[in-house]
Parts: sequence; structure tokens; C-alpha cells
Amino acid sequence: MAKYTFPDGFKWGTATASYQIEGGVSQDGRSESIWDRFCQMPGNILHNDTGEVANDHYNRYKEDVALMKELGHNAYRFSVSWSRVLPEGTGKVNEKGLQFYSDLVDELLAAGIEPFLTLYHWDLPQVLQDKGGWQNPDSIAWFEEYAKVLFDKLGDRVTYWTTLNEPWCVAFLGNYIGEHPPGMRDLGTAILVSYNIMRAHGAAVRLFRNMKMSGEIGITLNFTPSFPYTDSEEDKLASSYMDAFCVRWFLDAVFKGEFPSDLLKLFKERGITLPDFTKGAEMAEQIDFLGINYYNPSFHQYNPHSWPFYASGMKTDLPYTDREWPISPETLEGLLLRINAEYSPPKMYITENGCSYNDIVNEDGAILDYSRINYLSRHFKAVHSAISKGVDIRGYMVWSLLDNFEWAFGRYSRFGLIYHDFETLKRTPKQSAYWMRDVIKANGLD
Ligand code: GCO
Repeated sequence: MAKYTFPDGFKWGTATASYQIEGGVSQDGRSESIWDRFCQMPGNILHNDTGEVANDHYNRYKEDVALMKELGHNAYRFSVSWSRVLPEGTGKVNEKGLQFYSDLVDELLAAGIEPFLTLYHWDLPQVLQDKGGWQNPDSIAWFEEYAKVLFDKLGDRVTYWTTLNEPWCVAFLGNYIGEHPPGMRDLGTAILVSYNIMRAHGAAVRLFRNMKMSGEIGITLNFTPSFPYTDSEEDKLASSYMDAFCVRWFLDAVFKGEFPSDLLKLFKERGITLPDFTKGAEMAEQIDFLGINYYNPSFHQYNPHSWPFYASGMKTDLPYTDREWPISPETLEGLLLRINAEYSPPKMYITENGCSYNDIVNEDGAILDYSRINYLSRHFKAVHSAISKGVDIRGYMVWSLLDNFEWAFGRYSRFGLIYHDFETLKRTPKQSAYWMRDVIKANGLD
């Protein structure tokens, strides 16, 4: 018996996202998404890379499912491309695009792998962006229509549904920081998008209940807990704003139907025009599980010139991954205990956790990614510890199955358990993939 044994039935696997792996962007009637458009603009993506080919998973999904099976996975989290299913955003269903996901689900089930389907992982059809995207309150009805197509088609075979992946990135990376499409830099817009997209989430959950779907539905949020750089009161204030922004903002929306009052007050002081939030309760529809995406903590120092949070990010003496993200499994455990105590989600899944290293293939053709094994092993143990303290965590999806198109970082940030050669499209499991196979087999580790 392993020293750290996980509960029976624990789900183990990886997570991916449609635009990051599929390629095949013009195949079988798929329309342009906001990511296709964004990648065309020079300077948006490192080395002007795009997801046009990515892992060509659209054409090679059988090979990828076979690899998951070989590596012992019993769960797989993926997302659906809205542009494949409804090329005009709403209206006419593209049967070929929809069939791809039906075939993928069948392939997974036949391999004994439980599908976890995410409806939205950031690739809005461009036609909908042209109508204002998530800024437009009609987006709530668009999303509901899209969700219904998938519930109808796959509800008989998919048990685990996730409405949104990381609405924080959609709202703030897309509309305030400008690193993701639509590439806006306006905080007020980002807040409006937060509100609309969370109402869209609520609408999809309501629909799921009204359709009497037999599975479970939840949402995946990303968390970057912030800590004060020093013990000074000023650093504590700056850090508490950042923590409200990067941890509490969407938790409060999901569980309380409102956004954190300390931040709303700050935003008002900063002159931001806020929506009236009168329909906030629509955001807090009862979910069945919460998905946790966690990578790293952050540390903040007070800075009077920094807008709007009075906060500057600081480096510490923690170890860092090659992506320059600090490594702290203790923060993951603390986060899980805290969310459990403060929000009491019905249950949780780790829907993403992983690390980027500049992996190399050695002369024997092997990828000896011991840093990743070390990272994962420490984070698995942190989750085990949270479970042993009473937190109900049902599964762990490592980001990611393959090295893939890493958004603004293009192909130069490798998160996969499987190495991907972007020239030949050859897949080679890294040492970490074999290590994880043993963990899954033992349902635990030493
Ligand atoms: C995310 C993202 C992934 C990223 C991963 C690594 O949901 O943030 O789902 O798409 O690739 O987080 O940056």
C-alpha cells in the first residue's frame, strides 16, 4: 500500500483545451474563433505562433486516447470548440463538428476513460465577438443555446460537465490586461464581462436542471493566492486586494451571487463605472462540484503608483519553474482548506495543475523531466493532505496531456506529460508520464 493513498474511485488524468490542441481550424465547417483572429495580429503571440495546427488532435484524437489508455488514465478533461458546433455562433448546428466530440467521447468511454467536458475554454466564435462578445448581455442566451446543443447530443454519455474554464482569464486577461482576445484594456469592460459570463454560467446550470440531466455540472476557477511581501500593514492591504481579485472575485460570484465588496469599493474610488449587478443572484445557481486550477502563489508589495490595486508583484526565494512561476504546494493545500471552510463547495476536483519546463529529448530519445515529477509529487501530496483533513476532492487532472499551444506563449512553454515535436507532430511520453502511470496504478504514491 502506498504511503499516500487516495480515496477509492479517485479520478486521475489530464486536461486540455480545444484551441490549444485541435488544429484543423478550417476543417469540416469550423468557423473563425477569437483566438484565430487574435493570433493573426503580429506581436500578440510569442514568435507569432498560432493554433492552426497545434497537436492536430482533431485528426489524431484516436492516437491520443490510446496514449491516455496506455498511460493508465481514467479521466480526461477537454473543451468543445463553439465554432465547430455552431459556426454562426447561434442557429444552425454543424453536424460534422458536433460529431467530432461525439466520436471523441465514444473513444474515451471505450478506453475506460471518464470524459469531463468543458463548454467554454475561451474560444468564442468571432461572429459573436463582432456583436460585442461577452460585453453584450445577449451572450447569456447565446451560451444557453450552445449548451443545449451539447446537452442534447452528449447528455446520454457525458456525466461531468463544466460550464466555464477560468472566467477570470476571459474577463481580465481579455479585457483589462489585453493579453488574450479581444485584447481590450479597460477595467470597467472586464467587470461587465465578469458579470455577463457568470450569468451565462448560471443560465447553463439552470438549463441543465430544467432538462433533468442525469450528470453533474460545475465550474472551473483559477486561483493565484496572494501573500504580503513583508509584514507591513501596507503590504497586507495591497495583498488583500490582489487576493480578492485573484481568489475571491469569482468564488463570491459562484457561491454568493455577488462580487467582493472591498474590491467594488476600491473600483468606485478609482472612478470605474460599475454595472448595477441587480441580477447577481443568477450567478449563484447551485453547482455540483467546483473545479480548481492552481499553479502558483504571488507576493505583493504596496506601491502607491500602481493602479488600481496599489500592488507590485515581487520575486521571492522560492524555487521557480522555467515559466518563472514560484513553486509552492503548501499554497495549494492552504487554498483547498480555505475554500472548503469559507465556501463549502459540495465537492472539488483539481481540474488543472502542472508546470512548464524547457524539456529536451536526450540522445536516447527520452525526456527525463525529473523537475516535473518533483513538482507533481509535491502537489499530489498536498492534495492528499487536504483530503486527510476532510476536504472532499474527487480527482486530479494534470495540465496537460501534451505540450500544446500555450496561448500568448505559443509553443514555447511545455506543460505536457507527453512531449510534442511541433515539426513532425510526434508524441513521446516523458518520464513524468510513466511516473504518473505508477501513481495511478497504486492510486497513491510514497
Ligand atoms: C488555463 C488554462 C490553460 C493553460 C494553463 C497553463 O485554464 O489557464 O486552462 O489553458 O494552458 O493554465 O498556463
